[in-house]
Amino acid sequence: MTSISGAPHKPTACPKNRVRYTSVPSYKGAEMDRMSPTTDLVQPTRSLYLDLVERCLINAIYEDAYTDWRERGATKKFDGAMRHWGRDWPSCAHTMIGQVRLRNLRDLAEQVLVENVPGDFIETGVWRGGACILLRAVLQAYGVTDRRVFAADSFEGLPKPNPEHYPADAGDLHHTFEELAVSLQQVKANFASYGLLDEQVVFLKGWFKDTLPSAPIEKLAILRIDGDMYESTMEALQHLYDKVAPGGFIIVDDYGCVVGCQQAVDDFRRARNISDPIINIDGWGIFWRNPVDATVFAPSIQRLEPISGGAPQPFWSVVVPLYERQSYLKQCLDSILDQGLGPEEMEIFVIDDASPTNLKEFVEGLGRGRVKYIRNATNLGLYPSTNDGLRRTRGRWIHVLHDDDWIMPDFYTTLKRGIEQAPASIGVAFCMYVNWDEQNSSTWSPPPFRTAAGTMPRDFLVKLSVANPLNLPAVVYRRDAFERIGLFREDLPYTADWEWYVRSALQFDWHYQPEALARYRVHASQQTLDLARLGLTARDIRRTLEIFSNILPREVALRSLPVAREHHARSFFATALKHFQAGNQELAGRFVFEALAIDTTEQLRPEFIQLLLHPSAASIFHDIRAALLRRPMYPPGQ
Ligand SMILES: C[S@@+](CC[C@H](N)C(=O)[O-])C[C@H]1O[C@@H](n2cnc3c(N)ncnc32)[C@H](O)[C@@H]1O
Repeated sequence: MTSISGAPHKPTACPKNRVRYTSVPSYKGAEMDRMSPTTDLVQPTRSLYLDLVERCLINAIYEDAYTDWRERGATKKFDGAMRHWGRDWPSCAHTMIGQVRLRNLRDLAEQVLVENVPGDFIETGVWRGGACILLRAVLQAYGVTDRRVFAADSFEGLPKPNPEHYPADAGDLHHTFEELAVSLQQVKANFASYGLLDEQVVFLKGWFKDTLPSAPIEKLAILRIDGDMYESTMEALQHLYDKVAPGGFIIVDDYGCVVGCQQAVDDFRRARNISDPIINIDGWGIFWRNPVDATVFAPSIQRLEPISGGAPQPFWSVVVPLYERQSYLKQCLDSILDQGLGPEEMEIFVIDDASPTNLKEFVEGLGRGRVKYIRNATNLGLYPSTNDGLRRTRGRWIHVLHDDDWIMPDFYTTLKRGIEQAPASIGVAFCMYVNWDEQNSSTWSPPPFRTAAGTMPRDFLVKLSVANPLNLPAVVYRRDAFERIGLFREDLPYTADWEWYVRSALQFDWHYQPEALARYRVHASQQTLDLARLGLTARDIRRTLEIFSNILPREVALRSLPVAREHHARSFFATALKHFQAGNQELAGRFVFEALAIDTTEQLRPEFIQLLLHPSAASIFHDIRAALLRRPMYPPGQ
């Protein structure tokens, strides 16, 4: 809703670095572009039902006129763009929040159901009930019977301002608009007209200050605040914020358009030290997500335990996983030690994953008395061993690099300076890197991620989830990112770093330094060679894309996953062809099946036909047919 207080409008843009902008779909595009990559192929009727409910709620069906609040009471003809963006007060439609904010609400509600974030849904400030009706429809569409939708409202309009307690509301005129007063009886009738009035809907009638403190709510997965004024927004936050579950969403309808509302949100977040990034929905509405419990993503993800005891922490912990290879470690450790940071600033671990030779003496001989050598009792594998190293750290920021990687002078001082100047929402920082081959020649660098140092835009999540654009030595992690979202997934030996980057970017901002301060050695480790030999690199990529389709916000998934699927499937087909040509039919088959499992789009038909025409492919025709019929390809757990 737009500001109708006496106070001046604030610009809709929000303070720098505090709001991460989602791309707003174009008016036409957004109408049809919403098929979920995961659920909708399976459940087209669910989507069709919810699409229709949305259209009815904003009355894109009969296209009712609207009231222009700027010219009190003036009625104007239906305007599709105004309704789409929720900029009008409809004369009949059951919500005024428009299609974009309604779609966002639906996406977030579906996301908490898919991810099992516990709790009920509530909207504080329901007007004719439309947003709550949508929430009830989402529960209906998913067959959820153990969650409730709370609809809190005076059902008499907004309260008179109380400037003694809430000076920001002085002069607010919302209470003078009788259009904003909709009776409980009318709202119930609206629910009933969709067949959605039942015991899963709970009405809390009265002023928020009276109803919310004692509302019979234990946990919330969605808190939607739409009470316009400072007081109404603050009452909702004060009484309900602590009930929002980890991974739950806090949505505020009027942040970008009502000065008092924005101030209440800013005051509350400041007072409670909340730094979870604010995401802009459409210039008016915003949301943020409560820190996600790692188990929301996968029960098997382990978290880093917070440090106990008050002993001072170094700024940096450096972890170097090692297995057997000795030829590069000196260059790696020298590049760290030459930066001249003392033990109070930096601790360094080399984690030997039970190499056949005991490397203690060798490592300590290189370590200048600064490197702790840890030898695993048995060979754990790269990421379990890395996680083990992470558990030993005490630093505030952690850097992991392999024994054959190295860094340039000033790596740590430059990144530390960048981190200290960045907003508190930063959980990861990275710099430009150069790939080197085994002969010590530089081979390649990615295009710059940004021109200058600073926070990566939200779109970075799209890039990150298409394919992994980073190499390990270029990235450093804030310790509490591992505490909050968990360690590397140990069930993805090939893609654990990539999966973690995306998981972290859902929760934290990323800081970038444009200086090329990290060097990554390109040659396959024994583990990678083993994985590739078994076709498990492709399996991990396919699995990672499946994970992304469950955890990415819908607007990101829609942009990144189709591109990712096509890209990886194309590369699997190319690899399969090479294996056919080399006479390795079994491995070729693995890659073909993984390609088919992640993408069956028309665009890849030429590659697919080319493969089928290869003489060796005849041997796997039967299996390809089965794969195309979507028979499960691997036993569970493989
Ligand atoms: C802008 S309307 C809500 C629009 C609605 N969410 C939709 O989907 O169209 C604001 C609503 O908040 C209610 N409201 C605002 N402040 C309130 C308060 N302090 N106590 C109770 N109700 C309040 C008003 O009665 C009104 O119905």
